[in-house]
Amino acid sequence: MKGVFLTLEGLDGSGKSTQARLLARFLEERGLKVRLTREPGGGIEVRSLLRGDLSPEAEYLLFSADRAEHVRKVILPALEEGAFVVSDRYLDSSLAYQGYGRGLPLPWLEEVAERVTLGLRPHLTFLLDLPPEEALRRIGKRAKDRFEEEGLAFFRRVREGYLHLARLEPGRFVVLDATRSVGEVQGEIRTHLKALLP
Ligand code: TMP
Repeated sequence: MKGVFLTLEGLDGSGKSTQARLLARFLEERGLKVRLTREPGGGIEVRSLLRGDLSPEAEYLLFSADRAEHVRKVILPALEEGAFVVSDRYLDSSLAYQGYGRGLPLPWLEEVAERVTLGLRPHLTFLLDLPPEEALRRIGKRAKDRFEEEGLAFFRRVREGYLHLARLEPGRFVVLDATRSVGEVQGEIRTHLKALLP
């Protein structure tokens, strides 16, 4: 494996997508090969299937179907070519949302994920941490999706889940205060990335 796998995680409204774009541009400007990608939708477009009253299990398996394709068709081939892969969400989203948020048992999620991802884990994960109240305030301006309708209690569980995951793997996670400006957050991301740059 020659490339570097980076992921961005956080609540809806945490600014992940903006930070992922800025990060990809920063790496490209340094002449590095970059593959900017995302979940859901990196492998199979599952978004239209995630509507309606779905069980948490069905939800997880749909995200997993997307992820299985994403890993095999997009992420691993790019890493083999030596690229920096920047993914806006990956497995930690499922652990936080379907595990801590919806209450599915983590051992089952992990067992399925091991097979789905072929054991692939990010080298570094930037967690854009945001109080749930602020996340809801920010996305209030956008169209609400199925999770956003769940409200504050759900977002609290997801945020605590993310922070717990970060405590379990302090070597992989970088927790960033996402209430700061876009520029400040990006600056901190770049600082942490230096060790991985050629
Ligand atoms: P997005 O807003 O980043 O496109 O993500 C869509 C929603 O899907 C977001 O609320 C997080 C949720 N999600 C999960 O619940 N589990 C997952 O595994 C992924 C990838 C996303």
